Amino acid sequence: MSHGFDTLAIHAGQDPEARTGAVIPPIYQTSTYAQDAVGAPRQGYEYSRSGNPTRDALQECLAALEGGPVGLAFASGLAAEDTLLRALCKPGDHVVIPDDAYGGTYRLFAKVAERWGLAYTPAKVSDVDAVRAAIRPGATRIVWVETPTNPLLGIADIAALAAVAHDAGALLVVDNTFASPYLQQPIAHGADVVVHSTTKYVGGHSDVVGGALVVADRGLGEELRFHQNAMGAINGPFDAWLTLRGIKTLGVRMDRHCDNAERIATYLDGHAKVAQVIYPGLPSHPGHEVAAKQMRRFGGMISFRAAGGEEHAVEICNQAKLFVLAESLGGVESLIEHPGRMTHASAAGSPLEVPGDLVRLSVGIETVDDLLADLEQALG
Ligand SMILES: Cc1ncc(COP(=O)(O)O)c(C=O)c1O
Repeated sequence: MSHGFDTLAIHAGQDPEARTGAVIPPIYQTSTYAQDAVGAPRQGYEYSRSGNPTRDALQECLAALEGGPVGLAFASGLAAEDTLLRALCKPGDHVVIPDDAYGGTYRLFAKVAERWGLAYTPAKVSDVDAVRAAIRPGATRIVWVETPTNPLLGIADIAALAAVAHDAGALLVVDNTFASPYLQQPIAHGADVVVHSTTKYVGGHSDVVGGALVVADRGLGEELRFHQNAMGAINGPFDAWLTLRGIKTLGVRMDRHCDNAERIATYLDGHAKVAQVIYPGLPSHPGHEVAAKQMRRFGGMISFRAAGGEEHAVEICNQAKLFVLAESLGGVESLIEHPGRMTHASAAGSPLEVPGDLVRLSVGIETVDDLLADLEQALG
């Protein structure tokens, strides 16, 4: 029987525990498991890097929410990305990456993977032809996209890029962190692997760092499960439990994030102190139609360019009070940041450098009038 998203978020992988009936999956804070005889571990559990019931509950739930057969949880989004790259690629391979990827993802390609012989080409993910042109026939193993991108909120057409990647014999990997599975399910549009920083909307409370992969093909998923164990970048049972607790309210949180972001984007649009608002829900956004096609709603992230340039952008960030000046995103509280000097500082001087006048908002689920009042005073 298939269930709706919110039912899966609360129940998938989370049957009451067999021994006591505990409604919430226990935190199995153990590194090892007693075996009944040599070579006879109970239900396959022998060591918690290889398997842990709390992590298994989270993995099953993530797989159900993204609509793939295999979900895998990691210590962070970057740990998931690193495991994926080293499992799929070998020296001499090539990857197409977003030209405004999250700074840490770019750093992983530019400062780590390249040293091991993995070449990469940044391309504008909203431009299908540009992605096609960046492919090196025979060498490109992955077309890697974020949608919406971080921080410029570019929109990639997942179905079109899946066709481009598959034509070239490559896999399409979609970082779905900004949308969350509630707003967008890339596997349904042809993606092969979905990446998450579960630190963000999936966890949703800014209290745990984590990452995930959900894989469309079971065989590839099992290969990645082998690498998850072989490389060891798993999350611990308590972190898995916190993430799973956050997931239960993902749908209701996302709807409020979207409600608030829509109000704030409309307020900023046309404000005298704002040069440009970047929000996929605005009809002026170049990716609006593609976003409407593949997303349920448009998300809680807004970027805007300050009319007074970089110093003004920094001043807005410093003046905000209710919007907390902090990196990260996707929690219930609203955050504000200056990507050029904060989250994306590692891209400075590269083709992925972001504009200095850019401010990024992670719109939380507070009372929206309070958020609007805070922005009004911060804009100066
Ligand atoms: C889109 C995106 N992908 C991946 C990551 C990396 O995740 P983590 O910080 O959990 O390692 C982030 C972190 O900000 C992100 O925004």
